[in-house]
Amino acid sequence: MAGNATGNHFRVTTFGESHGRAIGAVIDGVRPGLPIDLSFVQHELDRRRPGQSAVTTSRSESDQVEILSGLFEGKTTGTPVCMIIWNKDQQPKAYEKIKDMFRPGHAGYTYMAKFGVSDYRGGGRSSGRETAARVAAGAVAKRLLAHKGIDIVGYTLEAGGIRARSFDTSVIERNPLRCPDPEAAAAMEQLILRLKEEGDSVGGIVEVTVSGPPAGLGDPVFDKLEADLAKALMSIGAIRGFEIGNGFAAARLRGSQNNDPIYFDESAGRVRTRTNNAGGVAGGISNGEDIVVRIAVKPPSSIRKEQETVTLDGKPATISVEGRHDPCICPRVVPVAEAMVALTLYDHLTRQKLLSRKTRLQDLRDTIDLIDHNIVLLLSERQGLVRQIGALKKRKGSGIVDRGRERQILKKQLSVARDLELDARFIEEMFRAIFKLAKTSQKAIARS
Ligand SMILES: Cc1cc2nc3c(=O)[nH]c(=O)nc-3n(C[C@H](O)[C@H](O)[C@H](O)COP(=O)(O)O)c2cc1C
Repeated sequence: MAGNATGNHFRVTTFGESHGRAIGAVIDGVRPGLPIDLSFVQHELDRRRPGQSAVTTSRSESDQVEILSGLFEGKTTGTPVCMIIWNKDQQPKAYEKIKDMFRPGHAGYTYMAKFGVSDYRGGGRSSGRETAARVAAGAVAKRLLAHKGIDIVGYTLEAGGIRARSFDTSVIERNPLRCPDPEAAAAMEQLILRLKEEGDSVGGIVEVTVSGPPAGLGDPVFDKLEADLAKALMSIGAIRGFEIGNGFAAARLRGSQNNDPIYFDESAGRVRTRTNNAGGVAGGISNGEDIVVRIAVKPPSSIRKEQETVTLDGKPATISVEGRHDPCICPRVVPVAEAMVALTLYDHLTRQKLLSRKTRLQDLRDTIDLIDHNIVLLLSERQGLVRQIGALKKRKGSGIVDRGRERQILKKQLSVARDLELDARFIEEMFRAIFKLAKTSQKAIARS
């Protein structure tokens, strides 16, 4: 099924399940010659890793990342970068007792309704484990953004109704909640440990702040920056809400309170706003102020407390989920949320590069390299479809060459080329070459 990839130009596909052999990510659209700092990728994975404290699961995965492709002498080659993390500490037996029941709050029933099959061992693809692959890919984007002076910091703003009241970035990574207020962190920890004892769990709010973004990121109207950020963040398991800037609070303000006054900052040499109620985005495009987003994280569903459910064949049952589960996932969601924000921003930065009016020769060449790269990627995608059609034709016993279809494609694309003032003869030659490539591979399939 589609739905396993994100991004347009910096495109990330994740694969793997909680109790499969491995999980990983393939990044497509990475420019050649970029350094990948493997130790930083590992550092980010270690932040998401289970077993870091008593408030998270005790599953003990080392989450060692390996790079399988796309790297030569520490630098990207421009080909897909594949990163893999082997699953080591699986305990499928822990799920034996409940394998014939749907777990409330989990995706077992909906996966069954959609796919007709559901991996009961840890939720399969719907497991929080899948997010390790996002963190690995996000670390690459985060590093590339940092080279451009863009920093992303996430933290737990609220857990179990307890909210951070003070803000000190230096304490975030020094408490198990990843909370910027040490006092609130201690209260959150106490509450979570008590609920864990009671066999229950608790939710919270994670906030991510991006400092140093340029103005101009985001593509109206359907790929507005906040729309893409919302989609990226809402795709993380257990996320129930998204806000940007003052979010839902804006609904209760007057225009005069909600507007961000505009001024020209001489020292920065650009237009700025005095306040940041908008959260760094206006009209779907970043305005250069910090981007501030928040997500609501639900209490994890796997709890020891007994709950009502049904068996796979619909009989009433009672379930108590034993095993190693997070009583609060906020601290583990923090690096995942940062990763999704990084992937979205780097994708938009790459798009913006294609749009900007370049003057330096190297910049222009960089952009041409990226366009050429995308031409090859699109051609490879076309060839994939061509092969699928070849297999269908073989099954149906129909012929490979379809001159009518070729004429139809040519007519359509030549008309587009004319509108764009491209040389029609060249476009025709290019398509003849593409048709030849397609026919060669379909003929090979017909012979196989
Ligand atoms: C990093 C991470 C860790 C998670 N750990 C758990 C867990 O230990 N127990 C649990 O019930 N859910 C956990 N979840 C949430 C489930 O994956 C999620 O609730 C489930 O797949 C159903 O999807 P939904 O909540 O988005 O509807 C985790 C999610 C993330 C992102």
